Amino acid sequence: MSNKNMKTSQISGFYKLPVEKRVEFVQTFADLSAEDFKILKKSLDIQTTDRMIENVIGNFEIPLGIAVNFKINGKEVLIPMATEESSVVAAASNAAKIARIQGGFSVKSTDPIMIGQIQILGIEDIVTAAENIMNEKDKILAIANAQDKILVNLGGGAKDLEVRILESPTGKMLVTHLLVDVRDAMGANAVNTMVEALAPILAEITGGYVRLKILSNLADKRLVTATAVFDKEKMGGEHIIDQFLESYTLASIDPYRAATHNKGIMNGIDAVIIATGNDFRAIESGAHAYAARDGQYTSLTRYWKDDDGNLVGEIELPLAIGIVGGAGSIHPKALVCKKILQISTAQELAEIIAAVGLAQNFAAVYALSTVGIQKGHMSLHAKNIAMMAGANESEIDTIAEQMIQEGIVKLDRAKELLEQLR
Ligand code: MEV
Repeated sequence: MSNKNMKTSQISGFYKLPVEKRVEFVQTFADLSAEDFKILKKSLDIQTTDRMIENVIGNFEIPLGIAVNFKINGKEVLIPMATEESSVVAAASNAAKIARIQGGFSVKSTDPIMIGQIQILGIEDIVTAAENIMNEKDKILAIANAQDKILVNLGGGAKDLEVRILESPTGKMLVTHLLVDVRDAMGANAVNTMVEALAPILAEITGGYVRLKILSNLADKRLVTATAVFDKEKMGGEHIIDQFLESYTLASIDPYRAATHNKGIMNGIDAVIIATGNDFRAIESGAHAYAARDGQYTSLTRYWKDDDGNLVGEIELPLAIGIVGGAGSIHPKALVCKKILQISTAQELAEIIAAVGLAQNFAAVYALSTVGIQKGHMSLHAKNIAMMAGANESEIDTIAEQMIQEGIVKLDRAKELLEQLR
C-alpha cells in the first residue's frame, strides 16, 4: 500500500478498496497526522458548528470522496470532493486517467484581483466627476490600503481604479471599480471594508451620493485556465473525437445545452469548493456570469483537435477562492482537505479546481457522445434504490446487481427482490 516514495495519484481499483484502506492511501500520500485521520472519520462537533451559522440544530453531512489520477503542471494531486451526486468522483478520476497519458493538465492563473463596486448617484456633470476620480486615484488607493495593512504587507491591496458611466431608466450613474489584489483570501471582507471606507471621499469628489458599495462576484480579473490533451487512441479513435466535438458544438451555440454542460463542470468545481470550505455560490454566480460575458450564455470550455488528432480541451473561468479566512479556516475537514491537496497559495488551489472542472466536463461529454450518461449512473443508483427498499448492507449489492442485469432499476422491483431474497 505504501506510495510514499513513488508519490503518484494514479491508482487503479481505488474504488474497490474498503474505506479504511482508501484513507490509509490518502494519509500516506499527503503525510496526514493521526489527528487528521480522526478528523476525517468523525462528525463535526456541535460547538464548532454553532460558531459558524445561527440557530444551529445539527450538522448536515455530505459524502467526501477522493478523485485519483490527477497530474497538474507535472505534480501528482489527490482531489478531495464533497458531493451528494453519484458518479462525479469516478468520472473525474477517469478523465484524469485519460488526460495523464499526454502529460496531464496544464494550468495558469492571473493575479488574485477582485473588484469592489461603488455606485454613485445624483451627479450633475458625470464625465467631469469620472475624470476627477481618476485624478485622485493615488489618494483613493491610499485610503483603501489604510484599511488592510496586513494585506498590503503581504504584497496585496488596492492596485487600481476604473470608472464606468452606466445608463439606467432613472438616469446616468457612475460606478467606480476598486481593483484589489487579495492574495490568498477569497477577498469579500477585505474588499467590502475598503469600498465602504471610500464612500465619503467619492461622494465628496463627485458631488453625488453613494448607494451600493460591495464586491462583484463577476471576478473577471481573477481568471484561471486549464488545458489538457485527451489521447485519441484511449478515447477509441478519431471518430469518437468527432462525435465528442459534435456534442460539444451544441453547448457552444445553444444556451439550453450550455446550461447543462456548465452544470456538469460545476459538479466537479463545487465539490472541491465545498471540500475546501469555500463559497460555492460566489463561484457559481461568477462562472455563469462569465459564461454570458459576450451577450450570449455559452460553454465555459472549448475543445478542438490537435495536429495528431487528439482532443484538446480548455476551460477558463473566474475562481474567487481563498485558503485563509472564511469557513475554510475553521472547518476541521476543510483544513484536512487542503492538506491533502498540498497547496500553499489560493492560486494553486484555484488552478487545481479549474483542472477538475475540465475533467468533469470532458467525462460528461465523452459519455454523452458515446454510451450515454445512464450507464455510469446505474450502479450506484441501483444501490441507492436497494437501500430505499430497505435492503441491509449484506443485501444491497445482490439486489442492485440483479436489477442492473434485468435492466429494471425501480423501487417496486427492489422490494420484490428483497422479499424473494429473505
Ligand atoms: C449531470 O449532473 C451533469 C450532466 O448533465 C452534464 C452534461 O450534460 O454535460 C451529465
